[in-house]
Amino acid sequence: MEKLAIHGGSKVRTEPFPERTPFGKREEELLLQAVRSQTLFVKSGRFVKELEKEFAAFYGTQYAQASTSGTAAIHTAVGVVNPNPGDEIITAPITDPGSVMPILMQNAVPIFADVDPKTLNMLPESIEANITDRTRAIILVHLFGHPCDIDEVVKIAEKHNVILIEDCCQTHATKYKGRYAGTFGQMGCFSFQQSKHMTTGDGGMILTNDQETYIRLKLFSDKGWDYQYMGDRDHAFLAPNYRMTEMQGAVGLAQLEKLRDVVERRIALGRVLTELIADAPGVEVVPLPADREISWWNYIFHVTGHDPDEFCQAVSAEGISMSAHYIKDPIYMRGDFLTKGRTYGDSQFPFNSPYVSRDYHYGPELVPGAVEGLRTVAVRGIHEHMSKDDIRDIAKAINKAAHGLAGSA
Ligand SMILES: Cc1ncc(COP(=O)(O)O)c(C=O)c1O
Repeated sequence: MEKLAIHGGSKVRTEPFPERTPFGKREEELLLQAVRSQTLFVKSGRFVKELEKEFAAFYGTQYAQASTSGTAAIHTAVGVVNPNPGDEIITAPITDPGSVMPILMQNAVPIFADVDPKTLNMLPESIEANITDRTRAIILVHLFGHPCDIDEVVKIAEKHNVILIEDCCQTHATKYKGRYAGTFGQMGCFSFQQSKHMTTGDGGMILTNDQETYIRLKLFSDKGWDYQYMGDRDHAFLAPNYRMTEMQGAVGLAQLEKLRDVVERRIALGRVLTELIADAPGVEVVPLPADREISWWNYIFHVTGHDPDEFCQAVSAEGISMSAHYIKDPIYMRGDFLTKGRTYGDSQFPFNSPYVSRDYHYGPELVPGAVEGLRTVAVRGIHEHMSKDDIRDIAKAINKAAHGLAGSA
């Protein structure tokens, strides 16, 4: 058996991996056009409008509303739900705070559905079990490029008359039963942050097929103010300014042109990696489902037969950096905003207000599947500029560590 690098053996990989270089000539060209147009403001420019139109056309929806980030997109969607203080919105325990904080920012209460410990995606049965007479919406987070069981969740949302918002920040242009995730709910939200399948550095987008929803999305993105729908100086309701600039619009248009190629490349590379490590001892891959794609924002698998930290250290020592546990704990335990109700000043609003109908407690026992999944998950970045040989090296290091640690156990 080959000696592990962590025990003084030679490394699987000494060369650095190729950098992801998401921006090219087309981005430069359109960005220059935007700057030369002498307007970088959405209302007087053409690029954001074009991006919205093209984005909606790509996904096959009626409307798209640009935003400044994924968090802003989700906040805008929650703003459209317009919850009363203390209403509940169900979201994911394993995600970015951008799927949680907007709920509190609209004075509603985040409720966490448990997840499948392998895919880390929200479970329909747990979503349904968490529905109460205060539930207004579900934010369904498709994690790591892997669409959730969308059909089941659509049925639950319809049955209980709650609004379905899809969080596709990690799952762009990815098909579930032949149709893109993000087009099933009343709204689908996307992030264009640097690490995402398409990026404008920061930025976001919301899809909808419903005209009324679209008008409210537009108003919520611009201080309740839109010349097209309101009088010049009328403001429909309390709302932030999440207007995208023409610079993001220009880069976004160039990114959208290659989005599906990026996604297809990641699907293919992820499949190769899954096949190559499927038999590694003490390792469990995420099964590749037949009815949906996985576009691997990052690649994940589980370390069930070794100590996950020791395993990731052994793989990293082979020249393939790898980390265990993703966000480590359910997202609501990373910070005080829920565990201690640190919301607005010292008020703890809305938790200790007359607007809530029960006590809320945010501990790990709420989501045993998420705790188990985070205990075993290992995360490795893969991207469209990697070659199959790069993927083979990653697989080689995983297999080497799996056999080496099994042998030494
Ligand atoms: C699942 C998920 N939701 C929401 C967000 C928030 O997006 P942004 O960082 O653009 O605000 C992210 C970003 O990492 C995310 O991964």
